[in-house]
Amino acid sequence: MENIINLEERRIVVTGASSGIGKDTAILLSRMGAKLILVARRKEKLCEVMDSLSGEGHAFYCADLRQINEIEDLVKTIVSQQGKLDGLVYAAGVTTPIPLMHFKPEKVRDIFDINFFGFFEMVRQMCKKGRFNEGMRIVGISSTAATIGNKTQSVYSASKAAMDGAVRSIAKEVADKKICINTVAPGMTATDMYTGYLKQNGEVSDANQKLLQRQYLGIANTTDIANAIAYLISPAARFITGTSLLVDGGATSS
Ligand SMILES: NC(=O)c1ccc[n+]([C@@H]2O[C@H](COP(=O)([O-])OP(=O)(O)OC[C@H]3O[C@@H](n4cnc5c(N)ncnc54)[C@H](OP(=O)(O)O)[C@@H]3O)[C@@H](O)[C@H]2O)c1
Repeated sequence: MENIINLEERRIVVTGASSGIGKDTAILLSRMGAKLILVARRKEKLCEVMDSLSGEGHAFYCADLRQINEIEDLVKTIVSQQGKLDGLVYAAGVTTPIPLMHFKPEKVRDIFDINFFGFFEMVRQMCKKGRFNEGMRIVGISSTAATIGNKTQSVYSASKAAMDGAVRSIAKEVADKKICINTVAPGMTATDMYTGYLKQNGEVSDANQKLLQRQYLGIANTTDIANAIAYLISPAARFITGTSLLVDGGATSS
């Protein structure tokens, strides 16, 4: 039987690999034959993920991706130690629910630093000559929040809409290099982020009930999201670029 998603020997960077969507995506991609390069801040968590990966030849790097000026050195080090790259899954991100009137400009920048500027700079650095193999695929993890409004999520929503907007243009700029770039936009997914949301809102709260009504297939598990990422990061997705794939249990259309 032919397997259309073949990641044998493809070297893929996954940021946000220490937990949630990034972690489970890394584990899935390793089962498909990819060599993983994990990035996040928490070393002990990254070591646990390394132990869960299938196959050999994986590596991890501890980095705070809000330090935008350090990303060039990070990418240079990764390429010199691991070789040219075949993919990036940018799953690092934070959601910090804050009402409009409580936002300070520095907090806005802080959220944008990790959710958008870190993504943009990783992409910029990885797309430089000598750092990638032909056919590289990039997948940023956006969110349904890019298109659905919610109280306290103004900056989170804006940072995800920025990712979706940027990939439409970047896709055209990198097409000559045979690079494809897209985002995956998950609905609510069972990770620490959802645990935080439940802590804030409560399981039987109006907000959570409305969420479950709207996202009528239920709360996603990380595998639901990882499966979509695995396809977009694979050579099989060579004709898909500059778009955002909703993986949202029907939420956006309901
Ligand atoms: N869960 C959902 O319902 C949901 C829905 C839609 C979209 N998303 C998006 O999916 C992505 C992953 O979220 P998740 O639910 O898997 O959340 P999570 O479990 O909290 O994971 C977030 C990841 O981002 C990393 N990270 C955070 N700040 C960082 C920094 N400054 N530098 C480097 N890494 C950093 C964390 O690693 P360290 O703390 O070790 O650095 C962690 O690995 C996010 O972009 C999120 O917006 C999630």
